[in-house]
Amino acid sequence: MKVLLVGSGGREHALAWKMMQSPQCETLYAAPGNPGITADGGQCVDLAADDIEGIVEFAKSNGVKLVVVGPEVPLAAGLGDAVRDAGLLCFGPTAEGARIESDKAYAKMLMQHVSLPTAEARIFTDLDAAKAYVLSRDHGIAVKASGLAAGKGVFVCPEPYQAIKPLEDIMGSKVFGKAGETVVIEEMLTGQEGSVLALCDGRNIYPLEALQDHKPIGEGDTGLNSGGMGAYSPVPIIDDAMMTHIEREILVPIIDAMRRDFGRYEGLLYAGLMFTPAGPKVIEFNCRFGDPECQPLMMRLKSDLLEILTATAEHRLDKVTIEWDPRPSVCVVMSSAGYPEAYKNGFEITGIADADAIEDVKVFHAGTAMRNDKLVTNGGRVLGVTAIGDTLEEAQEKAYGAVTKIQWQGAYWRSDIGDKAISETK
Ligand code: AMP
Ligand code: GLY
Repeated sequence: MKVLLVGSGGREHALAWKMMQSPQCETLYAAPGNPGITADGGQCVDLAADDIEGIVEFAKSNGVKLVVVGPEVPLAAGLGDAVRDAGLLCFGPTAEGARIESDKAYAKMLMQHVSLPTAEARIFTDLDAAKAYVLSRDHGIAVKASGLAAGKGVFVCPEPYQAIKPLEDIMGSKVFGKAGETVVIEEMLTGQEGSVLALCDGRNIYPLEALQDHKPIGEGDTGLNSGGMGAYSPVPIIDDAMMTHIEREILVPIIDAMRRDFGRYEGLLYAGLMFTPAGPKVIEFNCRFGDPECQPLMMRLKSDLLEILTATAEHRLDKVTIEWDPRPSVCVVMSSAGYPEAYKNGFEITGIADADAIEDVKVFHAGTAMRNDKLVTNGGRVLGVTAIGDTLEEAQEKAYGAVTKIQWQGAYWRSDIGDKAISETK
């Protein structure tokens, strides 16, 4: 079958790589894709991920059966609806479903409605009222732009006064535009974080292996939040009993709440959790695979991804069994100097072939481009260097061994991806 994958990041390269291993995959198109997807045999199409009309037209006129949507922006803009209206299969929710991510105020209200374990929160549309509220607090808080901000719209403030500047930036200077018209202010939680992703076909849910992301740019979880600087799986703190608890207390209730609100939720539901002393609490929901989480996840997937995504889109997830490689995997993100703030593109990248040649290593492209036959940097997060090994230490060693083979001017990475799990199991 022919499949069209929408997006261009590391998540999409990992999904493409895995789908192309399926015997059912005749052609994998990617809109717009990236040079890593091309190198693995995919056909990149010059269409932006949010060009809804162009994507639907291309899919119809090229005999595409399934459209798999990677990022949240086209989902929130209604790509999932347009693909279904055209009579094609879609992996990804409708715009109503995507609101669980694209409208944090809505997500919080839905969570409160079903008493889901999550941070206490208040919602504001007025800057002065928001400022007065934070100054009345005596505990740490998190300030969040309600709309989509590429993972950069959240500010964790251990002291309430620290929230004034982000509030002024978001609501006063409108640094995130309309995404910051409404702000969610919630209590600051503490604990380790984990990501639990589940496939949803509208009737059944199928939780996948748990992962842990590393959001802050700096080692030891310091500095600004990024889209994610590395991830690993499995996660020692999320054992089978914890997974059952999360499914029962978090995933099922939120899917039921969405069903009552607008109908069936289909695609991938991502729960970002914090393991507090009072148990796991929801930090956020996303309507798509996490990035970089998707990269170590695909490294561990043994089953046919194309079949799994098709079964989800065809509402027959109950007939699917997913097999995982029990070995741990680690993904180290290599980023441009300056990210998550301003950075420059266009630096030549060398050494990927040497890194890829290491056994059990796969280098996923995220922000790369071809210029005059040379591979150059073209984004904040540039590569996801991913490895699998008998132990987490071994996977980590292989991933970092591969990282050192790769060069460009200003390449940056965190050298502590996976350390938390290793210290946990010692
Ligand atoms: P989000 O985009 O909502 O996942 O937030 C990004 C990051 O900010 C999370 O991964 C957490 O590290 C942090 N964060 C968000 N909400 C809170 C909270 N209520 N308490 C503490 N940290 C938070
Ligand atoms: N890595 C976090 C996310 O994809 O939202």
